[in-house]
Amino acid sequence: MKLINLQVKNFRNIKQLTLNITKNINIIYGGNAQGKTSILEAIYLLGITKSFRVNDDRAIVNSGNEFYEVRGTFRKNLKNTFNIRLFFSINEGKHLFLEQKKVKTFSEMIGKVPVILLSLEDLELTYGSPSFRRKFIDILISQIDPLYLQALKQLIRILKNRNKLLSMIKEGGQKEEALIPWNLQLAEHASYVCLKRHEIIEEINPLIYHFYKNVSGRNEKIEIKYKSFFDVAALKEKEVIKTLYLKKLDEVKERDINYTTTTIGPHRDDLIFFKDDALIKIFGSQGENKTFLISLKFAEAVLMEKRIDEKPILLLDDIFSELDLTRIQKVVENIQQLQFQTFITTTNAEKFDSGLSDVGLWHVQNGQVHYEA
Ligand SMILES: Nc1ncnc2c1ncn2[C@@H]1O[C@H](COP(=O)(O)OP(=O)(O)OP(=O)(O)O)[C@@H](O)[C@H]1O
Ligand SMILES: [Mg+2]
Repeated sequence: MKLINLQVKNFRNIKQLTLNITKNINIIYGGNAQGKTSILEAIYLLGITKSFRVNDDRAIVNSGNEFYEVRGTFRKNLKNTFNIRLFFSINEGKHLFLEQKKVKTFSEMIGKVPVILLSLEDLELTYGSPSFRRKFIDILISQIDPLYLQALKQLIRILKNRNKLLSMIKEGGQKEEALIPWNLQLAEHASYVCLKRHEIIEEINPLIYHFYKNVSGRNEKIEIKYKSFFDVAALKEKEVIKTLYLKKLDEVKERDINYTTTTIGPHRDDLIFFKDDALIKIFGSQGENKTFLISLKFAEAVLMEKRIDEKPILLLDDIFSELDLTRIQKVVENIQQLQFQTFITTTNAEKFDSGLSDVGLWHVQNGQVHYEA
């Protein structure tokens, strides 16, 4: 997938911007607070439909204005082009258009433009709560498997209803048996989600190991472990997981009613990051954590390409802080070799002096962008 044209209006500090993109690697450089991350945010929005920085789109609208707009022209499989337009206004909310046609549900768009982002927010992957890690794996799998996204949406709906029902049971307004149909539905979707998470983690682990070793020059065992409410790896089959989940739901029924919430399930899953069997969160240095995150994103990109037969677009926001020159050099080499269309922001473009080819250099100043080479 290639972004060949980007147009942005009233987006953060950018009043108006048009980029014609002809190169594979695009370095967006400039001082702090000039609009670099905002450009990545605009591209990300076209792929994921939501910002990675804020939940409320009003924060994105250039202050004093009523709306923002992002338009992108993409080229798929080196031939077919298509347009996406995203429009948000404070009064009318958010609207998406694919080839001028209004998109009814935003989830339809997920996977149309596969993107992978590495930004400051990703530090939360290591140090933040489990919800960040679930979001990470959910965005990844949703982009390669529409059924997964459907299952997730169902899970949210069922959990909401089931939790309401738990309150009613606690208050005596409903019988415990009323849980049974909800449990069945819950188990159906939960088992699919768990299985997919397990499958993807198994597939991504050797890739992370490869990239980490390449960038760090050290042969360390890098691994993500999937922590679920039972050992998914040992079960492996959807029906088996489903049966066990139903049994467990029954076992914790009293607790669920008491807390009026569903206390076990994929909505409580976590991912744990290890280096040589030690938690990266606790034992990893800053550089190691950064190396891990970069390796994770490269691994994601490779996995995604394999699954959907389309190269995702890489958005790398200021990724070189905490890395020494040797590691920076290795990361740059990987970016060159992987051949994904890549957008990299940096305050210091000299870091890229190192023999990159097919590179476009964009200078950002006060919300305006100039193409330099
Ligand atoms: N809704 C908005 N309206 C106007 N300006 C905004 C809005 N939201 C953010 N900004 C400003 O836009 C500027 C650019 O932000 P951005 O995060 O893109 O900077 P950056 O170039 O990535 O900087 P850094 O190198 O510090 O990360 C900042 O000064 C920010 O405060
Ligand atoms: Mg920034």
